[in-house]
Amino acid sequence: MKLLEERITTEGIVEDGSVLKVGSFLNHQCDVELFDAMGKEWAKRFSGLRVDKILTIESSGIGIACVAARHFKNAPVVFAKKSPSINLTGDQFCTTVHSFTHNTDNTVIVSKRLLTPHTNVLIIDDFLANGCALQGLLTLCKQAQVNVVGIGIAIEKGFQPGGATLRELGYRVESLAIIDKIDPQTKSIHFRSNYEILDRNFSYTRTKI
Ligand code: G4P
Repeated sequence: MKLLEERITTEGIVEDGSVLKVGSFLNHQCDVELFDAMGKEWAKRFSGLRVDKILTIESSGIGIACVAARHFKNAPVVFAKKSPSINLTGDQFCTTVHSFTHNTDNTVIVSKRLLTPHTNVLIIDDFLANGCALQGLLTLCKQAQVNVVGIGIAIEKGFQPGGATLRELGYRVESLAIIDKIDPQTKSIHFRSNYEILDRNFSYTRTKI
């Protein structure tokens, strides 16, 4: 998505070789006009699919998912909470997520009342790197026996394995900007422009939007 790539190019700050800071528009300060355009783009890419609920993980996914929901018939947005305590009452789905990026382990929970079997769920998040957060969300979805109809990502770091792993598993992943390389010397960011995504269920070629 050209608009998002432009913002990453002009405002993104490269740190420590592979960490990209996009706090001025995506995950600290929120540009809601950009979020709206992103929601519109995901709605186009996932058109024809029934989306009953959108699932994300706190914190940065929440704002993006809420604005995107306006383009999915105001589907309710559920966010997995990072909780210091484990599930004691049995009324929550629960798993552990390790973040390589932050080098932390988090217990993440969702109330069983909010994810019920056979619901069609679209997952949305800001970043996809190694994919640990997404794997955690998928574990919660499996526990809840919901149907994951797709995964919408704002920025995929294509040089890390998260996206490829999810596509190999058969999930439809739609990333609005895919970064294939960050040059550690010049700190320049290289986007994937014309790319082909082949997975078990979908076969299509996407040209730059
Ligand atoms: P990981 O396994 O490599 O840690 O990556 P994963 O795809 O699971 O993402 C884990 C967290 O790291 C996510 O935050 C994601 O936003 C963040 N992240 C990964 N790479 C980058 C990056 O280059 N820049 C920034 N700014 N963030 C990155 P989260 O767990 O959803 O928490 P939160 O940050 O939303 O609170």
